[in-house]
Amino acid sequence: MTIKEIFDTMSYGPALEANSEALDWLARHDHSFGHFIDGSFTAPEALFDSRNPATGKVLAQVSQGSTASIDAAVAAARRAQPKWARLSGHKRAQYLYALARLVQKHARLLAVLETMDNGKPIRESRDIDLPLVARHFYYHAGLAQLAPAELPGMEPLGVCGAVIPWNFPLLMLAWKVAPALAAGNTVVLKPAEYTPLTALLFADLSREAGLPRGVLNIVTGDGDTGAALVAHPGVDKIAFTGSTAVGKAIRRATAGTGKALTLELGGKSPYIVFDDADLDSAVEGLVDAIWFNGGQVCCAGSRLLVQEGVADRFHTKLKRRMDGLRIGDPLDKCIDVGAVVDPVQLATITRLVDASEGDKYTADTPVPEGCFYPPTLITGLSAASPLMQEEIFGPVLVSMTFRTPAEAVELANNTRYGLAATVWTENVNLALDIAPKLRAGVVWVNGTNMFDAAAGFGGVRESGFGREGGWEGLHAYLRPKGKTNPLKAVAAMPAPKTATVDGLDRTAKLLIGGKQARPDGGYSKPVYSPRGALLGHTGIGNRKDIRNAVEAAQAAKGWARATAHTRAQILFYIAENLSARAEEFAARIKAQTGSSGANEVEAAIARLFTYAAWADKFDGAVKSVPIRGVALAMNEPCGVIAALCPDEAPLLGLISVMAPAIAMGNPCVLVPSEPFPLSATDFYQVLETSDLPAGVVNIVTGPHTDLAKPLAGHMDIDAVWSFSSTDVSTIIETESATNLKRTWVNNGRARDWMAAEAEGRAFLRQATEVKTVWVPYGE
Ligand code: NAI
Repeated sequence: MTIKEIFDTMSYGPALEANSEALDWLARHDHSFGHFIDGSFTAPEALFDSRNPATGKVLAQVSQGSTASIDAAVAAARRAQPKWARLSGHKRAQYLYALARLVQKHARLLAVLETMDNGKPIRESRDIDLPLVARHFYYHAGLAQLAPAELPGMEPLGVCGAVIPWNFPLLMLAWKVAPALAAGNTVVLKPAEYTPLTALLFADLSREAGLPRGVLNIVTGDGDTGAALVAHPGVDKIAFTGSTAVGKAIRRATAGTGKALTLELGGKSPYIVFDDADLDSAVEGLVDAIWFNGGQVCCAGSRLLVQEGVADRFHTKLKRRMDGLRIGDPLDKCIDVGAVVDPVQLATITRLVDASEGDKYTADTPVPEGCFYPPTLITGLSAASPLMQEEIFGPVLVSMTFRTPAEAVELANNTRYGLAATVWTENVNLALDIAPKLRAGVVWVNGTNMFDAAAGFGGVRESGFGREGGWEGLHAYLRPKGKTNPLKAVAAMPAPKTATVDGLDRTAKLLIGGKQARPDGGYSKPVYSPRGALLGHTGIGNRKDIRNAVEAAQAAKGWARATAHTRAQILFYIAENLSARAEEFAARIKAQTGSSGANEVEAAIARLFTYAAWADKFDGAVKSVPIRGVALAMNEPCGVIAALCPDEAPLLGLISVMAPAIAMGNPCVLVPSEPFPLSATDFYQVLETSDLPAGVVNIVTGPHTDLAKPLAGHMDIDAVWSFSSTDVSTIIETESATNLKRTWVNNGRARDWMAAEAEGRAFLRQATEVKTVWVPYGE
């Protein structure tokens, strides 16, 4: 064969990576594993097979964790936690550094084992997964070192339960274990049933690193084991990555328990190609977007949106590239697409594709027998087709065309998910105009699937909530230090036998879309002073009023585009107008509660100033990621925020939740103090005279227990907060699973609304989502 012929055919022979070390390691464990609890392996129990999907051969047997195994692991983690938390940040940093070094030292063994267990090409496990795992431990060694000085008011949560999927088994372990340990938590990890082996090898490495026993515990098993971990009362936080369906089940299972929760779920991420893009690069990017790990990637660019004028040309180039992809033995270094993780997943992909309409193009490339699926492109689908909406989690790309940038954004956002998005264009103005308009936690410009420990990763909408990576990721493993007091229900003043009318009897309405509206049900409720005087009536809002308020808030979403300066000005103006009527508001508080209201009004004015100040200062960041380019961490508003306001501070409570929400650009629907609602209804006039656009703040009075459910279940609300003195945390967290809106509830804990804990960064973080926009530069 001549050199020219070799270049023409690009024929190649297999270049198999040796797997003898991995087989030796399995043999050393007799191909049979117990759980890793309290620093050692338990005797194997209730064994099930872990297979190599590329060959179908059994690699080892692992134990199905029972509730007893979970009990033992949680108990070990609990015992170890106080001492681990008391170590200096530097000491924890040293352990994490040792883990990073050991991952590097054993990188090849880990990569080979990962490929054997999962079926992903060795090129990926070796060059992408393992370097990212090591990087994650290095980066978090740094966070462990700095956190005590940088976040002095924070402490670890306690015992963290981590449930992870099979698509990046070791990387997902790193994403959960590194920040949890850095922050001073201990961990019980449940790997996916298809891919438990690298986690068990990592357990060996943790012993080698001298990690104190009980700090990391690993219990293998299936969804039942995962559910037992989620349900365990000794767990303080659950960090989950996996399907949206299981994410919703976990949201419901943890509702009202006080467990912290982060969910990193599915996606149907758009990959947008504009007509001025470098099409060859965009094709290469697409190979990474959808054929990386055989498309079994939560943020896979699985939905191609290509501008009409270049669509034919782009599809032709793409098909040619698909034909050149090599599918086969994942241990072969020449392979682009490996095996699907399990025959069950292969059957799911086959079923979804077979049931779909559209024109299907299958790559013209040999596909081995067994658990393999060919790269596939489906065109001619409508935006509503199931495959345009549902995650396939396989090497299958669906494609649609668009005409204008506005249409591209509309199609891109036409999904219940919001994990990632990719934009290809040579026009920097267009790219940076589109990126903020995409509902996604991560946006890649002229590149795809860029990840780094310094840059937050995570979704919005049904892709879940919480970020992994960066300082923002560390916060998900910390809470404010200090004791909290239990919540005490605040009752309304009782109705006297005979009420006296204090001044003019007025019935306050609701505030919806900038107008005062009568409650739909036509009911109202009297509000009495402690001495039994009738102070007025307030409307009893119902589900319909909530719907109207949410509609008004949705219509006011343009508020997010008002400049931060404008938002600050309006908050200052609200403060000024409140200050002009301070005495009147103080008197009203006294009339309702019996206590002097002067301090509360003063604090409310100060709080408005605080958030006017923050409006243009809660900056994002430019992350130091190892690429030539930048990763911008942008603090974006969450969307529509609904809040049940504190009962105990009628005016200050309302302002404490309203001000951070609107300062960050979120329209809101507020349910004021239930026993003392009149300060909120008086406040309408202040809002009306402060240049606040209609619909940015909507107020619906009524019983918190009745309104919690429609608020938390509403599909057009993006976050719900509850500071009600009636603990409705369970209702809110359960109902929020409908669209996986973010929740922030008091879970039985009281807050001192006059104190510093009731304002500042914690509120701003809840009012924003971090969107990471990656912009590589150069040719
Ligand atoms: P899954 O969500 O069922 O599994 C993920 C993890 O959760 C595994 O460790 C599993 O044992 C555990 N688990 C399952 N049920 C649980 C429960 N009730 N409580 C606690 N833990 C539980 O994902 P699965 O079945 O492996 O894959 C199904 C589909 O999920 C895929 O086709 C894909 O669409 C999606 N998926 C998405 C992932 C992502 O990274 N976003 C990762 C894996 C799957």
